[in-house]
Amino acid sequence: MSDFETSINSLDLGLFQRIPSQSTEMDKASLLAIQAAVRELVPKYRYLEIGSYLGGSIQPHLLDPRCRRIYSIDKRPPQQPDARGYDWRYENNSTERMLAKLRDVAEDLSKIVTIDGDTRDVAVENVSEPVDLCFIDGEHTDIAAIADFKFCLDILEDNGAIVFHDAHIVYNGIADVLTMLRDAGKSFNAYVLPHTVFVVEIGDFPVRENHHVARLAADNSHSYLFALRDNDQFRRFANRFPFGLMRRLITKVRAGNVSK
Ligand SMILES: C[S@@+](CC[C@H](N)C(=O)[O-])C[C@H]1O[C@@H](n2cnc3c(N)ncnc32)[C@H](O)[C@@H]1O
Repeated sequence: MSDFETSINSLDLGLFQRIPSQSTEMDKASLLAIQAAVRELVPKYRYLEIGSYLGGSIQPHLLDPRCRRIYSIDKRPPQQPDARGYDWRYENNSTERMLAKLRDVAEDLSKIVTIDGDTRDVAVENVSEPVDLCFIDGEHTDIAAIADFKFCLDILEDNGAIVFHDAHIVYNGIADVLTMLRDAGKSFNAYVLPHTVFVVEIGDFPVRENHHVARLAADNSHSYLFALRDNDQFRRFANRFPFGLMRRLITKVRAGNVSK
């Protein structure tokens, strides 16, 4: 067995070691588990991600001999809106910088196609082959997450997976796309993996049957508590003076705190 096979089959986080990735250790384990599942389902798979920054989440796919193509879509704005209410800034964010970093991971970058832009402006024809696995980690707003998901649906194979990062931030967008799939009568399966990785399997694409994915999904207390605790800042804020006082007064007037 090659070093890569051993590493991916043991979810070795060393596969992320060359370039820092914007994710927790548990997120990385979940992403590797999904990759292990996809490479079993499609031995020559294609991967697309929206939001690549320095290439941290690309590196395990770049190293994977079973990954035949990587599409990276990134708008690279100096700052991006965020559903938490403040803009995020990414300094020195460029495709050239990402490619230079990826060259430290593997010499041959010929399977990578980079597209500078936003899925709301990029034509689907820019992705010239159907993709098996999409990873959405671009602008962290519900509107952008919905647009990214629709783009992914357009370029996905009939059976494939679309995965969101930071699901605890773009949860309203995720809820909307699941409603959209239900209304369209699409066959799908959706579930969360620790900490913030949300998987939508489209059609017959049982990522969840991989033993690593199944174990992580069964251990999803991590996702639940991480999401609630990360968002707890908003509850603490809402309970603080004077907002807490105002909310308590409104609740009292409306008798919203009375059980009959
Ligand atoms: C959280 S970082 C991606 C991190 C990367 N996936 C990793 O794990 O290392 C978000 C990236 O999304 C990009 N971005 C921001 N707005 C975008 C948009 N509207 N469309 C596509 N990409 C966007 C930013 O330029 C940034 O590089």
